[in-house]
Amino acid sequence: MSSLYKEIAISLAREIDEGVYEPGDKVPGIRELKLSRKVSVSTAVAAYRQLEEDGYIEARARSGFYVSKRRSVQFAEPSLESLSKRPGLVAEKARVLLLTEQLNKSGVVKLGAAVPDGHFLPGQWLKRVSAELLREQPLSAVLYEDPLGAADLRQQLCKRMKLLRCGCRPQDLIVTSGCQEAVFLALKALTRPGDVVALESPSYHGHIQLLDALGLKAIEIPSDPRKGISLEAFQLAIEQWPVKVCLLIPNFSNPLGSCMSDARKKKLVSLAAEHSVHLIEDDIYGDLDFANKRPLPLKAWDKHNNVTYCSSFSKTLAPGMRIGWLLNSALIEAVEYQKIITNVAVSSLPQHIIARVLQSGRYEKHLRYVRQELQQSMQKMRAAVARYFPRETRMTSPSGGYVLWLELPGNVDAVEVSELMIRKNISVAPGPMFSANGKYQNYMRLSFAVAWNADIEKAIQALGRCIYAKSSAQG
Ligand SMILES: Cc1ncc(COP(=O)(O)O)c(C=O)c1O
Repeated sequence: MSSLYKEIAISLAREIDEGVYEPGDKVPGIRELKLSRKVSVSTAVAAYRQLEEDGYIEARARSGFYVSKRRSVQFAEPSLESLSKRPGLVAEKARVLLLTEQLNKSGVVKLGAAVPDGHFLPGQWLKRVSAELLREQPLSAVLYEDPLGAADLRQQLCKRMKLLRCGCRPQDLIVTSGCQEAVFLALKALTRPGDVVALESPSYHGHIQLLDALGLKAIEIPSDPRKGISLEAFQLAIEQWPVKVCLLIPNFSNPLGSCMSDARKKKLVSLAAEHSVHLIEDDIYGDLDFANKRPLPLKAWDKHNNVTYCSSFSKTLAPGMRIGWLLNSALIEAVEYQKIITNVAVSSLPQHIIARVLQSGRYEKHLRYVRQELQQSMQKMRAAVARYFPRETRMTSPSGGYVLWLELPGNVDAVEVSELMIRKNISVAPGPMFSANGKYQNYMRLSFAVAWNADIEKAIQALGRCIYAKSSAQG
């Protein structure tokens, strides 16, 4: 039966989410499913069992299966915030440190940080590759690497970038210690303290903290859960303020999950070039499209080296290996200098391990597995939120990436909720972490890159109870 039943369950769940079947509708019977999908009865039964478990459908005696009355599709998507009145320095800091602290604590249900559960990662495969490498080239693990990165890895990265229509030479990119360092190096090379940087809003807290560390001012551009950054608001902002750089996540953003269309990407790239605004794109989630249609990065439309591409393997292979990269030939010299004076080069062993993994040609197969697991986990989380949260809750339905973004009833303070939940060993990321000036008080990010089990379900239930209590106590 393998994972065929999972694929069927995922595609039916999506049809339900998209409204093909409404709450209360009867879904095709086992026999119909068997014929239409050309599968065995046991596979069809297993798919329906999975959907039942996830709260999508319910069985009625002697009548068949029906879409559950309280489906998550009734939860609309979060609303947009307005454009910032003026650029400002970053406010939030302590909360990010708290979230990072929770990461390594045992016994905490970690719904806050966008960090993959171990079962998404190919631990055994990486172990085999590193043993092989140490046996064959023991010195490669201990010598300093070229500051630009190991030649074998850069060659493989060029091959991947070519597939994304960003053909480049090995000397056009630099290997970094994760995507965070790539973004840091790009900002450092392109800005001076006091410069204005446009961020999509809500934005990834790691980006906001980088602006803080570099003394940069943020202007927050509203972003849509499906379409991504508002081009109209972006244009208004760059006409009004001396914006130096725009830093964004065009593919499956964190926390919104939005993915820009090709047309919007193209328009953004030309708008930015026209106004001499440099784009830094963080494409860390780009490989995680649930439909297996890898979206192109902004860089694919860049004709003038006005886009700096940053990514890493932290969400797909091994966050602990800290292997990321930055691509922009025009910036390499400045970035390489900064890299040398800070930490010479990235650790050698992880670079060669990742190079071998890419050489093996099995990375795509691994990605298909991770995407399917993530999509299932997302559907379970959406179903659990639909079961346990107040009806006024709104939530995203991303088509890739790691996270859900929730708008809670207006009177619920997500920071208070997160503080109460941490006492119960459940960590969540409250909305204000995703704004440079404390917006999103009643919003929350949940990561679905978790191994789904009864504890997670219970944690969502406890979270829902707390939010119910807060919304009625203060309402
Ligand atoms: C959008 C985004 N960029 C960068 C990072 C950090 O990536 P890395 O661990 O590769 O430095 C994360 C991690 O959560 C992220 O979500």
